[in-house]
Amino acid sequence: MTNVITIDGPSGVGKGTISEHLSDQLKWNYLNSGALYRAIAWVARNDLINLNDTKGLEKASKNIIFSLENKKLKIQYKNKDIGSLIYDEEVAKIASKVSSKPKVRESIINIQRSFKKPPGLVAEGRDMGSVIFPESQLKIFLTASIETRAQRRFKQLKDREFNVSLPALIKDLDARDRRDKERVNSPLVIPKGAFVIETDNLTVIEVKNTVNEKVNKTYGTNI
Ligand code: DC
Repeated sequence: MTNVITIDGPSGVGKGTISEHLSDQLKWNYLNSGALYRAIAWVARNDLINLNDTKGLEKASKNIIFSLENKKLKIQYKNKDIGSLIYDEEVAKIASKVSSKPKVRESIINIQRSFKKPPGLVAEGRDMGSVIFPESQLKIFLTASIETRAQRRFKQLKDREFNVSLPALIKDLDARDRRDKERVNSPLVIPKGAFVIETDNLTVIEVKNTVNEKVNKTYGTNI
């Protein structure tokens, strides 16, 4: 049996930071499932695929090669590594729309499950514990208010020298939250049995420590 830890939660809550750190500590594989939707969004923008053209989007997702390299996700499209090109706010907005399409979600279920390989997997997203890996032994759900999340993202984007405004980020996050929660197929929910961490008043180190404690208790590790 291969172990899998799922980390779910809304946009901008810090799932990426915690999941990447945890997978590094455990030396497990790491699946950032949002990157799959972002890659499809990037291809839709690049190839001018209409977002209502579900067949076109499905086809695009089939032509993207998702693999693991050094335990991390590698994304190739037409022989080009597009992994570093998918993190701007425009791609995020398209990804939010693309990910609400049931056919698109279905088209990448098996790919996501194929990342569950020894020695283990840390999987991050919106439906990792509820739909993709319901068998997971440890399900974490991170939460924070929309203001806290917008502030964190604002700082991140400023550090990377992107020009953004805080009110615009709050508006975007609100729209994304709504799409995540209201979609019919795999909406954002707290998975059954998940351990919820309210992160508004916690530092990154405090969240990491809380997660580590849970991991140690579940797997008898010492991280
Ligand atoms: O986590 P992220 O912001 O990189 O995710 C990009 C988009 O993909 C976001 O709008 C939510 C969506 N997503 C999803 O629907 N299901 C997942 N498991 C992961 C992300």
